[in-house]
Amino acid sequence: MTVTRNVPFSPPDISETEIQGVVEALKSGWITTGPRTKEFERRIAEFCGTNKAVCLNSATACEESILRLLGIGEGDEVITSAYTYTASASPIVHVGAKVVLVDVAEDSFEMDYDKLEAAITEKTKAIVPVDLGGVICDYERIYEIVERKKELFHPENEIQEAIGRIAVVADAAHAFGAKKKLGGEWKMCGSIADFTSFSFHAVKNLTTAEGGALTWKEIPGVDDEWIYKQFMLLSLHGQSKDALAKTKLGAWEYDILSPAYKCNMTDVMAAAFLTIDIIIMFLTCFGHQEGLGEYKTTTAFSDGAASLVGVSLIIGLARGINKVLNDGYISDTILYASSKMVAHMNGSFFIIVMMLVFFVLGFIVPSSSGLAVLAMPILAPLADTVHIPRYTVVTAYQFGQYAMLFLAPTGLVMATLQMLDMRYSHWMRFVWPVVVFVLIFGGGLLVTEVLIAG
Ligand SMILES: Cc1ncc(COP(=O)(O)O)c(C=O)c1O
Repeated sequence: MTVTRNVPFSPPDISETEIQGVVEALKSGWITTGPRTKEFERRIAEFCGTNKAVCLNSATACEESILRLLGIGEGDEVITSAYTYTASASPIVHVGAKVVLVDVAEDSFEMDYDKLEAAITEKTKAIVPVDLGGVICDYERIYEIVERKKELFHPENEIQEAIGRIAVVADAAHAFGAKKKLGGEWKMCGSIADFTSFSFHAVKNLTTAEGGALTWKEIPGVDDEWIYKQFMLLSLHGQSKDALAKTKLGAWEYDILSPAYKCNMTDVMAAAFLTIDIIIMFLTCFGHQEGLGEYKTTTAFSDGAASLVGVSLIIGLARGINKVLNDGYISDTILYASSKMVAHMNGSFFIIVMMLVFFVLGFIVPSSSGLAVLAMPILAPLADTVHIPRYTVVTAYQFGQYAMLFLAPTGLVMATLQMLDMRYSHWMRFVWPVVVFVLIFGGGLLVTEVLIAG
């Protein structure tokens, strides 16, 4: 029997958070290029590890703008892969240059790098490698090739001269968030080629319905702000001010500097993305030298949840023990015995003892809430015996816990140590003075609290 199944064509993963983001953008009154697009650009640059990023309405527009910025046109040649989507090549045609297609290598989706080298002529101004399916091409090899072919390159404007060789313009439509180890260091897609374009079309790994972004590596002698400004001019009719800049008081006047294009990103598109996705992206890519990766992130989340289950169990257990102690009048018995022990204590001395008791108990009961549930019903009423307010015992509990938390291998301490690349044993050696300080400082404050209350 044959079973027919429909495999949907990459349905977008749109959650309530993205819908809310779009609704907020619509309600904000700012629906075209505005603060959300600027924020989106800032976060993309941060994510890709570049100084700047530009958001436009498609990857196609990004690639075309890059070729235009580079001054590529009539009489020039641009090489790209034969195995790709039409949009890798069409911008080359749009700017008036000749498309030179290089076939993929055997058993590979990447251009055959020997054929690529052979295809370079004196007219070649750029290479568009395609990071197909999120797999980053061999840029080390590509850079070696363009360096070797430097003598064939004749720059025709200042930016080409500043680059000094054939420009590498990655088509990373599929590869936002991809990374690769180059020269022993992990590099984010966007910070590898001279220029990179990304697609945020509906079927891409990150979507704004339609949309794209471009990033670039620093070019010695060329100001990033200048480059950014050129992309703004190219994408908005050559207008010297965009809509956001025009809203500033007295700034409505602008010039048309060239008959440019119209491919800016809108805030409604940017809002679709400026939601939970970016947090997940940061988590999947940073936090560890090699990136956490999706699997590790989800594992970290479930481990975190699992340890919360542990804490909840301790609190529940403490509550259960508490009930048994109460119902069996065991609490009363302990309370009676303890109050006889503290009866002759002076309030200040008692409260310091309490802080130390909580400090020690903190190591035995591995949950601050569990400890409070278990110990407070017995220790707080002891304050009545020495005629001081019960809330001072709560303060003693807090200081005992603060001091203990520096020593106990809690998640916070271990995460800090990981960031500092320090061993726990090393930390233990020098953290003692801090703990002693917290205890002395806390003790001083507690005594003051008791004296004021008295
Ligand atoms: C390899 C490749 N390059 C470029 C593009 C163009 O992207 P956009 O639709 O955002 O212009 C696509 C789109 O599918 C693509 O697959």
